[in-house]
Amino acid sequence: MVEEKSPKDRVDELRKEIERYNYYYYTKNESLISDIEFDKLLKELEELEKKYPEYKNENSPTSFVGASNLKESKFQKVIHKKPMLSLNNSYNIEDVVAFTERVQKNLETNYKELEYVLELKLDGASISVTYENGELVRAVTRGDGIEGEDVTENILAIQSIPNFLKEDVSLEVRGEIVLPLSRFKTLNEERLQAGEEIFANPRNAASGTLRQIDSEIVKERGLDAYFYFVVDAEQYGFKTHKESLEYLEKVGIKTTGVADLISDMSVMEKRIAFWENEKENLDFETDGLVIKLNDITLWEEVGYTTKSPRWAIAYKFPAKQVTTELLGITWQVGRTGKVTPVAELKEVELSGSKVKRASLHNMDEIIRKDIRIGDRVFIEKAAEIIPQVVSSVKEIRTGEEKEVVAPTNCPVCQTLLEKEEGLVDLKCINPACPAIVQGGIEYFVSRDAMNISGFGSKIVERMLQLGYIKDITDIFELDKYKDELMTLDKMGEKSVEKLLASIEKSKSRPYSKTLYALGIPFVGKFLGDVLAKKSKNIDSLAAMTKDELLAMDGVGEKVAESVYGFFRDEASLDIIRKLKAHGVNFGKIIDDKKSEVVSEGKFTGKTFLFTGKLQKFKREEIKDLIESLGGTNLSSVSKKLDYLIVGEDAGSKLKKAEELGTVKILTEDEFLEFTK
Ligand code: IVH
Repeated sequence: MVEEKSPKDRVDELRKEIERYNYYYYTKNESLISDIEFDKLLKELEELEKKYPEYKNENSPTSFVGASNLKESKFQKVIHKKPMLSLNNSYNIEDVVAFTERVQKNLETNYKELEYVLELKLDGASISVTYENGELVRAVTRGDGIEGEDVTENILAIQSIPNFLKEDVSLEVRGEIVLPLSRFKTLNEERLQAGEEIFANPRNAASGTLRQIDSEIVKERGLDAYFYFVVDAEQYGFKTHKESLEYLEKVGIKTTGVADLISDMSVMEKRIAFWENEKENLDFETDGLVIKLNDITLWEEVGYTTKSPRWAIAYKFPAKQVTTELLGITWQVGRTGKVTPVAELKEVELSGSKVKRASLHNMDEIIRKDIRIGDRVFIEKAAEIIPQVVSSVKEIRTGEEKEVVAPTNCPVCQTLLEKEEGLVDLKCINPACPAIVQGGIEYFVSRDAMNISGFGSKIVERMLQLGYIKDITDIFELDKYKDELMTLDKMGEKSVEKLLASIEKSKSRPYSKTLYALGIPFVGKFLGDVLAKKSKNIDSLAAMTKDELLAMDGVGEKVAESVYGFFRDEASLDIIRKLKAHGVNFGKIIDDKKSEVVSEGKFTGKTFLFTGKLQKFKREEIKDLIESLGGTNLSSVSKKLDYLIVGEDAGSKLKKAEELGTVKILTEDEFLEFTK
């Protein structure tokens, strides 16, 4: 039996964990955990402390803002006139509504409609700047919220912070120092060239820069600043927060200019959605929004916790990355026999969906990223769709984590795996491997191939298990099992009929599609089109020599070899024979319009070749990209060539293209632009 942890033990454990995250975040500028997960731990601790007040103590991370290590600071320490507070976080509109209800509950009078200001939450380094009679006299970092570092010299070096205001006022303003994204990019490029370590993100770059001893460096870095708070604002006669922000602008202090006045929560929801999208167009990082009660005169009454005002809340945008535990690795065998590692994760929510599995690419990646089973790992959605493991958090390893061991045998059919020379992928070379067969069937029925609907992965697996299909040709004999199919899970009479009709219909797919469906290595959609167009039917394609294949635009050595080999393999010929017997269109019925569908794209009719060492693409990637846009890859420089993409150390091809004078020469960046 697992022994329950005592509340006291859990409190201690949570404190220790939270303190560690705080230390890394504030002192080392490193996040070992996502905000939402951090907040969950903090909340758990808060609730335990509420339930067991005897365990509460003033050193608990629930009662003060995380601190940067002031002891190690080289700057003069200054106690803030008013503590620099933090904000509570919210993650959805329900949290925000609950916040506004709490605000109202803390007020004596029942207000019909309280007004809130919606601002951007800048992700930088917070700063408190004091002006005396219009002159900037001091600037202090947040530090632990009570005491910060005097970085006045460095703040004076930031162009957008005025040293003198337009009015001779004395006031303390708080805001955020940020490094514009455009500057961040060039700064990192410069650092890379100089062999220096690059900054992990603009926030690190901003807070690192603020702590520079030499203010000349600060000047060069191009920091920027936006202010969002006036200390003791009511003393200046402001009635609302919005008014105070307008005043800042008036005296020359920059704000983001975003301060929407909202009282209706459905409007709030819409504006939040708007900014979630619009934030991408800003030149600084925002990690969310801040919602503040506009009426300053009510702030005292609504009150404060030790850490944050009760009249304001942060709304955090959904995290792009979250952490979770890597429970294990499954080695998955694909259609081509490629064996790829898939991370099995403790389920987490990421950008609105639950994630249990993520891609780990290949063994080399696992070694490069030093990922071990049992690690806490960061995951993110690549191109917004497939989750992948980004990194592991080494700092919190217990020593129990296990190194990943690559399999020697196919996890499905136990055949000894092979690793092609120079390639990183492991491969199962057994064509009868059930995983390869299943992959081949799924590929064959997919939309771009035979477009047979009703063939989900589970159904295919079941049919294979039951022996109804052994390879793709059996699909066309499935009507034999009509009655049995109807008894399968989730397959009623209607769905079986639909499936059979879809199979029947697929027989008249265009030749280019049936050719693609065969899954000849390297023959994708575009090459399927090219080969179909040039050969008219599969018999003439099968009879072509390698040279005849090579003469086609877009067909290189590798493709020619693959196609030639495919038609000399008795097993493939047998499959083609059977498919033909079932009436699958392989160009016999020449319907020119149908069989000659060529991908239309931005590059249609244009030819490309690349040379030299490419930095941004793998060779196959660039070829695929060109083809996906309808372009043709050539293998040599000739009058037929339109564009030559030049990487590092380009040699004779570049020279020849220059001599020809008709070829347009592009760098990788120019090519990338061109694809947009
Ligand atoms: S108001 C008492 N407004 O977020 C008022 N803070 O998570 C406290 N921040 O410490 C701050 N943008 O460093 C406020 N528009 C904004 C902000 C903002 C970014 C930072 C600030 C604060 C932290 C709280």
